[in-house]
Amino acid sequence: MGFLRAWIRGNAFLDHLKPFGRLFSATAIQNVIEFGLGDGTRFFLEHAAQVKSVEIVTQRSAADGTKWFAKCREQYRAFPNWHPVFMVCDDFLEAADRCAIERRLYPATIDDRYLKSLSGIVSDVIKDASYDLGFVDYGLHIRGDLVNCLFGRTRIIVAHDTNSPAEIYGRDKIIDHPDYVKVRYSKGQGTTFWFHRDRMQLAEVI
Ligand SMILES: C[S@@+](CC[C@H](N)C(=O)[O-])C[C@H]1O[C@@H](n2cnc3c(N)ncnc32)[C@H](O)[C@@H]1O
Repeated sequence: MGFLRAWIRGNAFLDHLKPFGRLFSATAIQNVIEFGLGDGTRFFLEHAAQVKSVEIVTQRSAADGTKWFAKCREQYRAFPNWHPVFMVCDDFLEAADRCAIERRLYPATIDDRYLKSLSGIVSDVIKDASYDLGFVDYGLHIRGDLVNCLFGRTRIIVAHDTNSPAEIYGRDKIIDHPDYVKVRYSKGQGTTFWFHRDRMQLAEVI
């Protein structure tokens, strides 16, 4: 773990890798699906059997997002276990993301059609395999709704940046799912874990 510690110290945006290091040391995790890709993707590629990384970008950031995706593709091209996916928001998600960041309003109170778009994307990207862990750390601000979409679909759900304002990320809209226990790692940007009751013993390692 020495290398991992040194790596994390140099990058505040990777502070979620500390509790992830403990989790992956405690249990074998086969398939990971992450929303949002970057330097942290390497950790999953080196510790899980298969990794799908889903990059969803807004229409207004599509040009930058395309470049970022290409850069990451180049960076991880040596990993045969990596399955990257790129997509641009439809109009409903685009409007919802704008509403969250610019008006600091929960978008569903204005127009909830983006929830169907988001749920459709999640259904589509997870249909090829059974994923043990879903990680929410993408560029969109609709993060709470994505966590809600993952309940019942992955046994472990993790969201990064959970110390950020609730009204931007919709963190306060995450349901208290009866089948999951929530554990907060509050250091740095904040990382929150939800463990299905089948895997509840893992809550102690965080
Ligand atoms: C902060 S990154 C975190 C990604 C990953 N989970 C990690 O730990 O490295 C979240 C999102 O920010 C966006 N992003 C980060 N750096 C970027 C860059 N240099 N250019 C364009 N988008 C970027 C991407 O959309 C990415 O999915």
